[in-house]
Amino acid sequence: MTKPRAPTPPFSRSRRAFIQRAAFGAAALPLAASAGGALGQAHRGLSEARSAAAGQDSERGSGAADEPRLVTLQINGQLHTLSVDPRATLLDALRDDIGLTGTKKGCGHGQCGACTVQVDGHPFLACLTFAVMLDGRRITTIEGLAGPGGELHPMQQAFIDHDAFQCGYCTPGQIMSAIACVEEGHAGTPEEIREYMSGNLCRCAAYPNIVAAITQAKLAMQAR
Ligand code: FES
Ligand code: FES
Repeated sequence: MTKPRAPTPPFSRSRRAFIQRAAFGAAALPLAASAGGALGQAHRGLSEARSAAAGQDSERGSGAADEPRLVTLQINGQLHTLSVDPRATLLDALRDDIGLTGTKKGCGHGQCGACTVQVDGHPFLACLTFAVMLDGRRITTIEGLAGPGGELHPMQQAFIDHDAFQCGYCTPGQIMSAIACVEEGHAGTPEEIREYMSGNLCRCAAYPNIVAAITQAKLAMQAR
C-alpha cells in the first residue's frame, strides 16, 4: 500500500509552466510497468535483444560486430533512417541521434521506467532495447501523444489536473506506462493501477496523484 505523501507545495506559475513544457510540450519533447508492466518490459526488451543478437551473430562473421548498421525507425508517424552502432540503445538513438529528449534516462538498467516508450502499441524500456532490433517498427514517444492541433492526450491532461508530478523527470515514462495500463485493462481499481505501475519509480513520491490521474484518464480514454 502506497503511503500518502505530504501535501505538495503550490507551484509558482512560472515553475508550473516550465514543468508542463518539459513534461508535455509536443515540440520540446517526446515518453509502463510492474511485474506485468516495467518488469515485463524489461524482460521483453532483454529477450528481444538476445534473440536479435543471436540472429545477427549467425548471419555474419564476428569481424562485422562493430560496424554501423542502417536502421529505419517509424517514430511518431515519421520515418527516420539512421546509421547506428549495433550496441546503441533505442534510448540513445532517440535522444542523441534524433533529438527527441522527452524520453528520459534514469538508471539505464531497466530499474526505473523513466525511459518507457511504446513499440507497436506495447510498452518497452528503451534503455534495454537495441535500436537495430526495431527496423520498421512503430515507436511512440511522449512527443507523439498530442493531437495534430496540440491538444493533449487525456492522460497528459489528467496528470496536469491532479498535479501528478513535482520535478517531472519520471513523468514521460509514467504517462507512457499509464496509457498502457488503461489500454491493457489494468486500471480497474487503485490497487490494480499501483501494481501495474510499480515498475515506474518516482523519487518525488507523486504516487497517489498518479493513481488519481490514471483513474480520471481511464474514463476519458474510454469515451474517445
Ligand atoms: S528503466 Fe530505462 S532508464 Fe531506468
Ligand atoms: S515527479 Fe520527480 S521523480 Fe517523479
